[in-house]
Amino acid sequence: MALSAAEKKQRVAAAALEFVRDGMILGVGTGSTVNALIEQLGPWRTRLRGAVSSSEASSERLRALGIPLHDLNSLDGLDLYIDGADEANPARELIKGGGAALTREKIVAAAASRFICIVDDSKLVKVLGRFPLPVEVIPMARSLVARQLRALGGRPVWREGTTTDNGNHILDVHDLQITDAKSLELRINQWPGVVTVGLFAERPADVLLVASDQGIEQR
Ligand code: A5P
Repeated sequence: MALSAAEKKQRVAAAALEFVRDGMILGVGTGSTVNALIEQLGPWRTRLRGAVSSSEASSERLRALGIPLHDLNSLDGLDLYIDGADEANPARELIKGGGAALTREKIVAAAASRFICIVDDSKLVKVLGRFPLPVEVIPMARSLVARQLRALGGRPVWREGTTTDNGNHILDVHDLQITDAKSLELRINQWPGVVTVGLFAERPADVLLVASDQGIEQR
């Protein structure tokens, strides 16, 4: 049976809910797959202690459901973070940031003991880089960072009109073939003016749930 993209998102979100436990404070990501998760959180409203959100957009949806939002600074950590991705490789390394929420997503993922990533099969790749790699930059460093990305062989494009929740800009880097995601993440991360690179390789997903026409696969 051929499933629509929306059906795959609903099913993989439902599969992720199997990992949620009573009394948890849940880390919640950003994007259309996570929106499918939030839509299914209604019955969990009184069972969760609350959520830590990775974006203003997700916070708004969680508030509308009546789920209490917590400041990460008031917690020792999180048991579980659930988020989507723009691309995933066989090592569960990810490209994220298509929705411009990469910085807070990386913070919440780093605070969580377990990171479950929910995608449909269109997001699977052998080598990361088909999806342009988002890099969040301090606005005054945009051109400087773009020149460095060009020197690496990438083709950075300023996502004009987008300001992140942190007041910064995004460069989307095309034409990269990312064979060593960890070292590229570390390298770009240490350039002045870079806030976050959308590679999640130092802290990959612990579990990748993939929706396809055949069902849900856990990797
Ligand atoms: C948000 O900045 C991204 O990291 C999202 O997690 C990613 O873009 C996945 O979004 P979709 O679920 O909408 O594909």
